[in-house]
Amino acid sequence: MSDFSVIKVENLSKQVSTQEGALSILSGINLDVKPGQSLAIVGPSGSGKSTLLGLLAALDTPSSGEIWLDGEALSVLDEEQRASLRKEKVSFIFQTFMLVDTLTALENVMLPAELAGRADARERAMGLLQRVGLGHRLNHLPKQLSGGEQQRVAIARAFISEPKVLFADEPTGNLDAANAHKIADMLFAMNRESHTTLVLVTHDLTLAQRCQRQLLMQAGELSEAATAATTPRTQETGTWD
Ligand SMILES: Nc1ncnc2c1ncn2[C@@H]1O[C@H](COP(=O)(O)OP(=O)(O)OP(=O)(O)O)[C@@H](O)[C@H]1O
Ligand SMILES: [Mg+2]
Repeated sequence: MSDFSVIKVENLSKQVSTQEGALSILSGINLDVKPGQSLAIVGPSGSGKSTLLGLLAALDTPSSGEIWLDGEALSVLDEEQRASLRKEKVSFIFQTFMLVDTLTALENVMLPAELAGRADARERAMGLLQRVGLGHRLNHLPKQLSGGEQQRVAIARAFISEPKVLFADEPTGNLDAANAHKIADMLFAMNRESHTTLVLVTHDLTLAQRCQRQLLMQAGELSEAATAATTPRTQETGTWD
């Protein structure tokens, strides 16, 4: 395996100022992720998982330390350059889906590809929606879809730009067990097929165990989870529905 890291983090910290004074959210974070890896970040509510994901995806800026995303140091980029790096290399599945209310499922999925000027946006969006089992819901607005259906639209949208790295913040957070399993199957199938690096934040230990690596966030500090070394991963068998 090459020595290249698709994500590298050195001594990252994040503080914010609050009415009660400075609050440290993350400190001393180091991380090295190889291309195509799947990685789960677990840990208690409020420990800093979403904050870290936002920093890694160049949605937010750290107080100190450095992040290299696909070899590029984020600290030297301005907001515009970070936005273009995100567009090229990163997709983000938000826990709250963040679909555009006024666009249909198909239009939501097409959007990133249209913005990138791809002529095949519609065909690719239709294909992806079919793959997530929503070929019969192309023209529904988000409010006309169930939670699990909206989450699958968000997953299809995240993959249309063929990201190098997919960040997903509790992608199964609001789903029943059957839907959670189905969503996870889709994520890992895409991870295998297009070698997309997966960085997931999850409270779902079954999902975390399906990743090659598990990291534990506790009070703003990140460590390898104890189960990571003792739980060998078997080949994923998940398939598209
Ligand atoms: N802009 C901010 N100002 C003040 N405090 C913040 C800010 N952003 C995050 N925090 C605090 O930082 C801590 C970590 O938040 P974060 O959202 O990263 O937690 P989390 O691990 O994702 O939790 P959960 O599992 O509940 O989603 C929380 O205590 C939160 O209140
Ligand atoms: Mg969170």
